[in-house]
Amino acid sequence: MATNRGQFNSRLGFVLAAAGSAVGLGNIWKFPFEVGAGGGAAFVLIYLAFCFLLCFPVMVSEIAIGRKTQLNAVGAFKKLGHHNWAWIGFLGVLAGVLILSFYNVVAGWAFGYFLEMSQGNFDFGSVEKFVGFTADWEHIFIYGIVFMGITALIVSKGIQGGIEKAAKILMPTLFAMIIGLMIYSFTLSDAMAGVSYYLVPDFSEITGEVIYSALGQAFFSLSLGMGALITYGSYVSRKQDIVRSAAMITLTDVSVAFLAGLMIFPFVAFLNAGDMSSVSGGPGLIFMTLPGVFESLGPLLGKIVGAVFFLLLSFAALTSTVSLLEVPVAYLVDEKKIKRPVAVWSMAIIIFAIGIPSLLSYGASDTLSSFVNLFKADADGVLKETALPFLDFVELIASDTFLPLGGTFIAIFTAYVWKKNNLNAELMEGRETQSQWLSKYIDFAIMFICPVVLGAITIITILERFFGIQVF
Ligand code: PHE
Repeated sequence: MATNRGQFNSRLGFVLAAAGSAVGLGNIWKFPFEVGAGGGAAFVLIYLAFCFLLCFPVMVSEIAIGRKTQLNAVGAFKKLGHHNWAWIGFLGVLAGVLILSFYNVVAGWAFGYFLEMSQGNFDFGSVEKFVGFTADWEHIFIYGIVFMGITALIVSKGIQGGIEKAAKILMPTLFAMIIGLMIYSFTLSDAMAGVSYYLVPDFSEITGEVIYSALGQAFFSLSLGMGALITYGSYVSRKQDIVRSAAMITLTDVSVAFLAGLMIFPFVAFLNAGDMSSVSGGPGLIFMTLPGVFESLGPLLGKIVGAVFFLLLSFAALTSTVSLLEVPVAYLVDEKKIKRPVAVWSMAIIIFAIGIPSLLSYGASDTLSSFVNLFKADADGVLKETALPFLDFVELIASDTFLPLGGTFIAIFTAYVWKKNNLNAELMEGRETQSQWLSKYIDFAIMFICPVVLGAITIITILERFFGIQVF
């Protein structure tokens, strides 16, 4: 049974695959802007504290649950708890399916931009032009199919031959591309204006809203709350040290996010001749501002730098889509005894189909582009009723609500159903010594801090975004 499910070949392989899951679109377009807008280095410090104090205990719990049971998310909760607890796993599988359905669409845009940049087309510098690209559904459809197809191809080859191998190629390449682009961006004029916009600490920007979004971002960025790491953990050997691996995964994710900002802001400062006052965040920056930067580098250099940037973004997304697809696939393979290739391709097709309304919701269909009225904070942090595209609606449900909700229940389950002694025993497998204070901290965090804080985030998200009740 457990033996033919597959296993990571080495610790490095597991760490790279899990770090690949963590490093994704979230690191490269979301994190830098939250830092820029949220107080620079002050935000980075808060973010780091959340990653290590709050997310890290959840991460080691997820990996430990997976390795202990050698099962997918649903099976793992059933085995350690009772049939009554399987729903936490189902919530995770559902979150994975929904997140992948829209994530693949954005990944497809990144891939499409890679093709456009390599042909020297930089003409995206306005909302109309960006929407012109995303509304062109025939193209977007093909990019989405290609991206899901590559994801499925990797996952169908299994753990060692597919997921681990891809991570071992993609992650070092991604690192090299980020460092290369960062060094290049530092040579541009006004680069330092970008760096200081990014990093100079401004504690007055740290509001309740900033702290709350830093936490949500940390959780999403580390791929927690839906059993992705339970699933990957189930392929980890008993000789590996979970605590060390989790520290390396967290550190890699944070470093890539940090470096992405160091790479992007000098580019933006170069374009704006050092004036950072009008910089805005979100998808606009990556998809609208950066092509203009690349164009200003001249036809040949622009093509190269632009293509490398969007290839990097596509690679980052690919190691994440792979982990998202593996969650439902592992469920079908373990629980329903379906053969891996059949599970992979059928899930890929179903998830692509679920993503079609998201794919059409950035301009192709008017109804889907302003699908529901929900609440969103404006630039001053005031909640405004806003018509959201279908894609944003799914993101709100799956990433912003289901992940912290799942995290709350994973912490509660670990602390009160599986129990801390069992967690600690599992963490000791493959670990030579465990410092007393670290295991005391993990116990305390899993029993009290994580359930309370993650539960509060879930409730605040629901109140603010669905009901317009301003908490911050
Ligand atoms: N962590 C990924 C990112 O930052 C997204 C992700 C979330 C992947 C949950 C897997 C599971 O882009």
